[in-house]
Amino acid sequence: MLFNTGARYGIASKVLHWLIAAGIIGLTGLGAWMVDLSYFDSWYNRAPALHRSGGMIVLGLALLFAFWKIASPSPPLQAELRAWERSGARAMHLLLLAAMFVVPASGYVISTSAGSGFHFLGLWEIPALLPRSETVRDLAITIHYVAAYGLLPVIAIHAGAALKHQFIDKHGTLRRML
Ligand code: HEM
Repeated sequence: MLFNTGARYGIASKVLHWLIAAGIIGLTGLGAWMVDLSYFDSWYNRAPALHRSGGMIVLGLALLFAFWKIASPSPPLQAELRAWERSGARAMHLLLLAAMFVVPASGYVISTSAGSGFHFLGLWEIPALLPRSETVRDLAITIHYVAAYGLLPVIAIHAGAALKHQFIDKHGTLRRML
C-alpha cells in the first residue's frame, strides 16, 4: 500500500527512507574519499561533481519525505517500547530528519559561495541564491563537516536500535520499514 497505516509504513515512505539512507551513507563515503584526491587523479573534478549532484538529489528526496510525512502521517511508535526508548527514538528521528536537510543544504551553500552555480548531472545549472561570501563559506564548511560526521553515530544508534528491536526483542520493528 502507498500510504502509511496505523501499524506500518507504506511503500512511498519505505522507498524514500531507504533511498535517503543509501544516499547519505554513500555521499559521506564519497565526500571523505574525494577530499584526499590528488590534482592529477582522474576523479579530482568528477567526484565533487557527483557529490554535489547526489547531494541535490538527497535534498529533493528529503523534501518529498517531509511532505509525505505531513500528507500521510507515520505509524505511532510501537506500544512495546519503554518510555525512555520512545523519547530516544523521537530524538533520533528528529536529528535524522534535520540532518537530511542541513547536510545537503550546507553543501549547496559551499558549492555556490563563490557567487556562481554548478551543474546538476551535467544537465542544467543550479543557480547561486546567496552573494559571494567567504564568511558564509567557512561557516557552511564547518556545518557540513560537523553535521555529516556527527550523523554517523546517530545512524549507528538508529540502525542498532532497529536491529535490536527486530532480532533480539522480536518486535518486528525493521519489518515496518521493509
Ligand atoms: C542515513 C541513514 C538513515 C536516515 C537518515 C534514517 C531516517 C529515519 C527517519 C527520519 C525515521 C522516522 C520516520 C518517521 O518520521 O516516521 C526512520 C525510521 C526508521 N528507520 Fe531509519 N534512517 C536511516 C537509516 C536506517 C537504517 C540503516 C535502518 C536499519 C538498519 C533504519 C531503520 C528504520 C526503521 C525500522 C524505522 C521505523 C521505526 C519505527 O517507527 O518503528 N534506518 N529512519
